[in-house]
Amino acid sequence: MPNAMITGWGKCLPPAALTNHDLATFMDTNDEWIYSRTGIKQRYISHVDTSALATLAAKRALACAGLKGSDIDMIILGTATPDTLVPNIAATVQAEIGAECAALDINAACSGFLYGLGLATAQIRSGQYKRILVIGAERLAFYLDWSRRDTAVLFGDGAGAVVVEATEQDVGVKAYELNNDPEGREILKTTFGTQMDRLDAESLDFFLQFDGREIFKRAIAGMGGLSQKVLTKLDMTSDDIDIVIPHQANVRIIDTLISKMKIPAEKAFKNIENYGNTSAATVPIALCDALEQGRIKPGQNILTCAFGAGLTSAAMMIKWGERVTPINECDEELPACDKTALEIIEKSVKYFLSKAEKEQA
Ligand code: UT7
Repeated sequence: MPNAMITGWGKCLPPAALTNHDLATFMDTNDEWIYSRTGIKQRYISHVDTSALATLAAKRALACAGLKGSDIDMIILGTATPDTLVPNIAATVQAEIGAECAALDINAACSGFLYGLGLATAQIRSGQYKRILVIGAERLAFYLDWSRRDTAVLFGDGAGAVVVEATEQDVGVKAYELNNDPEGREILKTTFGTQMDRLDAESLDFFLQFDGREIFKRAIAGMGGLSQKVLTKLDMTSDDIDIVIPHQANVRIIDTLISKMKIPAEKAFKNIENYGNTSAATVPIALCDALEQGRIKPGQNILTCAFGAGLTSAAMMIKWGERVTPINECDEELPACDKTALEIIEKSVKYFLSKAEKEQA
């Protein structure tokens, strides 16, 4: 049975950074609160749509693997913020990279990338496909109500992608577990969808709602439980893990998870400071950053895990191959952005602040 090995990786972050200080210009918050409670310093706000972020991440991953779009057999794109629901945006990426293949979006919220990588692994192991592009891409600002300081400070936009290839070597995805806890559906949600009444303006007024403390607890239990299952499946212990690439939702969630699993703190990779929570994109972006920083060495055991709305959770063990540097680079960039992050969100901020004022009056 072939193994599924990551041979290419790429990320795409839009250029406009929104700092905690920027948020404090229109919201009752401050850098000290946000950084100490979450580990976030800034996040990026995109001037282009989710598919454009996904496409560039995909092109960079393809160059890294030394492949062309036409080499790809399937595209799986994890997102909760597609530009369009119909058609799916994996199709947009497909058109942009010139692939003739199967293409689908999946929504498992923040676990979307790892769900996608799990499904890709199964396709490769079955012998159906040899080369699959797995992408996590989000434009979370779409769901944010800028008058709600408990949620608006947490999220950012971005994309990450990997190319997974069939190999006979004993490397790649060794084991994974995916789960969902439907009891937690109500604690992290948005009302966006066909339940909205198109003829009623108020119904169109959707935003991300959640119970932060409850998610915090369930995230640790979910990721910890599945990570343990993966270790048991492989007859491994925490000592065998070389690096952990966790979903980046809150630095305190990562620290608590790592300490509960008795993994040394320095083995946890964290980059939430720069990006905030980019949902399905956090894991592939973190993987790219860890490789760029030389944190991943040939043959290492990487534990990666995530949780998100649903409440979904995922954990996976990857044995890295030999190559830790790209074969080629892609020199394309996003279209230039002539606005600051505050200017991009200005209209939306005005709308939500005035709505909140009216509600309070
Ligand atoms: O990927 C899945 C997505 N979901 C998540 O990642 C959420 C996971 N949960 C969390 O990360 C944390 O629960 C939060 C960061 C959301 C909140 O941290 P917390 O330590 O649980 O704070 P809290 O909700 O208990 O709020 C503490 C205080 C409250 O004030 P009072 O009631 O104690 O006076 C909040 O009103 O902090 C206040 N607060 C803020 N203050 C300044 C909440 N948000 C802010 C803010 N700035 N942005």
